[in-house]
Amino acid sequence: MAPENLVFGNGSNEIIEFAVRTFMRPGDEAVMAQQAFVVYNLVVQAVGGKAKAVPLRNYTHDLSAIGDAVTAQTRVVLLANPNNPTGTIYRREEWERFLGQVSRDVLLLVDEAYFEYVEDAGYPNSLTYHAADRAILTLRTFSKLYGLAGLRIGYGIGPKELIALMQRVRQPFNVNAPAQWAALAALDDAEHMRRSLEVNRQGIDYLQKEFGRLGLEFVPSCANFILVRVGKGQEVFQRLLGQGVIVRPMGGYQFPEHVRVTVGTMVENRTFISALEKVIKAF
Ligand SMILES: Cc1ncc(COP(=O)(O)O)c(C=O)c1O
Repeated sequence: MAPENLVFGNGSNEIIEFAVRTFMRPGDEAVMAQQAFVVYNLVVQAVGGKAKAVPLRNYTHDLSAIGDAVTAQTRVVLLANPNNPTGTIYRREEWERFLGQVSRDVLLLVDEAYFEYVEDAGYPNSLTYHAADRAILTLRTFSKLYGLAGLRIGYGIGPKELIALMQRVRQPFNVNAPAQWAALAALDDAEHMRRSLEVNRQGIDYLQKEFGRLGLEFVPSCANFILVRVGKGQEVFQRLLGQGVIVRPMGGYQFPEHVRVTVGTMVENRTFISALEKVIKAF
């Protein structure tokens, strides 16, 4: 990858801001899934843009409906694959159909923050679709698998003309030196990556099995968190908090009956399940 194809940010979050601030003007449209990473909508609103939110289908991006929502006013389509908060992915066939459907004038921002966790063979790595006549901006981050969220470093990969424009919007000192050193060290630490993936796989399997035992519906996850239907999400969140366990209530994502739990170590996962079991039985 050439340096001209890369832009670094204070987390990949900042790359979302660069892209929207660089390529959208007040009144322009951005299309996204209704229940995708909440920052997309906020950033589009902040530049006076119009966010067109397309409902998920079966907890998954509905790429065909997203393609239908694109108009001549659409500047950017924002996609999270895997999606947060559902942990779902769209697959190669749908993605390729979508590429055939959407005008090449539209920037496709493909947020792959959870890329490293995906095991599904049908997963389309957006980097392999970068082409001279198609504007794709792929986002990656050191916040998830690499565990450096607090240091804030992520990056965007795209056509050099687009990256050059985004560099003009970027503050010159946006990524601090410790974050850069840590990112470089993380790239060399294959053993840490291997262990993180193993802990995540074990955690996902354990949590999904336990949700089954507790009779709780959940969305099978390709990432490092799971969306699980617990009934009164906000109340379950509060009661878990009382037991020292923090999950994310999902009312803001229009999933009032769900919480999203991030996979922890096996000790943390067991603590969570035993707290959840108590909370649910007390209702
Ligand atoms: C889909 C998605 N994209 C981007 C981010 C931002 O991550 P960061 O700014 O830490 O790289 C998150 C964080 O939760 C996310 O879920």
